[in-house]
Formats: sequence, structure tokens, C-alpha cells
Amino acid sequence: MLHLDRATVQFQSPGGPLVRAVDGISLEIPAGQFVVVIGTNGSGKSTLLGSIAGTVRLSSGSIQLAGHDITDWSQHARARLIGRVFQDPRAGTAGSLSVLENLAVAACRGRFPGLGWATNRQLRAEASARLARIVPGLEQRLDQPIGSMSGGQRQIVTLLMATWHRPELLLLDEHTAALDPAAADRVVRATAGLIRDGGLTALMVTHSLAQAAALGDRLILIHRGRIELDVAGPAKRRLTADDLADRFDGLRRADQLDDAAARTLAELYV
Ligand SMILES: Nc1ncnc2c1ncn2[C@@H]1O[C@H](COP(=O)(O)OP(=O)(O)O)[C@@H](O)[C@H]1O
Ligand SMILES: [Mg+2]
Repeated sequence: MLHLDRATVQFQSPGGPLVRAVDGISLEIPAGQFVVVIGTNGSGKSTLLGSIAGTVRLSSGSIQLAGHDITDWSQHARARLIGRVFQDPRAGTAGSLSVLENLAVAACRGRFPGLGWATNRQLRAEASARLARIVPGLEQRLDQPIGSMSGGQRQIVTLLMATWHRPELLLLDEHTAALDPAAADRVVRATAGLIRDGGLTALMVTHSLAQAAALGDRLILIHRGRIELDVAGPAKRRLTADDLADRFDGLRRADQLDDAAARTLAELYV
């Protein structure tokens, strides 16, 4: 289970205003839940995921994961519990290494050094089986350098690496945003399959309202660092991409009104 208690992240850009990118978010995600996160640009989605992964420090509040208070844990310590996949297909894999070597790195992570290499044949069989399960045919490319593969295939390998040891939590930050629609679709289906088969707890940020409507057990809409909408169960299943687009329009209109009001006030008080 993941539990955030009034998690807040403030940024002070030099000379700029104080930005509360995550503004007192409290959230409980039970083990095994697949949560889709959406929100406008700059609403705080990446900061929220970064604060859970430990790349961003909380200004206040706390985070618990799988029974540990990880608020003060380093990113490195949290990596034992958390798998991550980013938008850039190059971010999660080493381009000059083969698919198998990349997977070996994931398999050995946190284990005795060299153990995975010592049982090379076993690892090859295991990697092959796991690849074949998510994208049949991909297992035939185990020895190719990963740099020669498409972005979509690379994201599939990254997903497999991130979930190799069944993390307590899987964080996906717009991991299909850099892919063409067909590849994005394949990666998203592989993602959903891995999460379902592994019974994983996952937070997936997406810019795609169609993905957000179709996937997950729960949907969270973030706006200005706060949770604007949180639906699960039958209400989540009924949500359509159009409903979500309407919500976004509503938020944008409210923002425009806010901006207009702020400008009017500023003009009144010059
Ligand atoms: N390292 C940083 N320093 C200063 N401001 C930041 C930093 N990271 C993010 N922000 C600001 O925090 C807000 C939320 O950003 P982000 O979490 O990246 O949004 P999203 O992922 O939803 O697009 C934005 O206003 C952004 O400019
Ligand atoms: Mg982001």
C-alpha cells in the first residue's frame, strides 16, 4: 500500500514566485490497485511521482510504502521498492548493451554481484519467456543491441526491467508520449498486461484521455497540485474520454476566469 499524508512540494525559482507543485495531497492506494493520473501541463503530476520515487524532496508531509515510512529515504533506497519508466525510451536502458544484457542488469539489481551472470543460461531462458509473454516474437531479439530497436520495443524492455523483481510500486510517467500511436497502443497493452498478471500496484501518468478512460481501476485528475477528481469502481468504468475532455475544458475555463480576474485586479491596483 502507498500512503501519502499531506504531501507538499514547493519550488522557489530564483527571482520567481514560490510554486506549490504538489499542494497537500493525501492519498491511499491499496496494494494491487492500478491508478491512472491525468492533468494539464504543469499541474504537478511528474513532481508527485518524483516525490514518491525520491528524486524530489517533500517540503512537508509524509509517504509510506509497503509498511515503511520512506519520507526520508534516498532515491537509491526507494529503488528497491519502486520500478519506474519514463517518457524517453532511451532513459531506462543502455543503448550499447543487448536486450539480454539490459535485462541481466535488472535481474542482478540489489542481488549478489555476478549471480545473474553466473547462471547465464537460466537468465536467457527466463528473459526469453518473459519477453514472449508480453510481445510474442520479441524474444528472438535478445542479442540485439537495444539501441537498434524501436522506441516502443525499448519501452517494453524497460517495463520488463522495472518489474523484473515485482516492485511494491510501479511508476509510469507518460511512458508512451514519445511514441507513434500504434507503438503507444502496443506499449500500453503490454503495460496493462504486466500490471494485471503481476497484480502490481501502479501509478500511470498519461496525456491520453482515451488511455485514461480505458485503463486502470481508479482515475485521479490533478490540477494545480491538488486532486480535482478521484474515481474508482463502477464510476471509473463508466467514465469516457469525452467526460474527461469536458472536465479539462471546465478547468481551463476556470483558469482563464481566474487569470482574467487577476489581470483586472492588477489593473485596478496599479
Ligand atoms: N525543479 C523545479 N524547479 C522549479 N519549478 C519546478 C521544478 N519542477 C517542476 N516545477 C514546476 O512545478 C509545476 C509542476 O510541474 P510538473 O510536476 O512537471 O507538472 P506536470 O508533470 O503535471 O506537467 C510547474 O509549474 C513546474 O514549472
Ligand atoms: Mg510531467
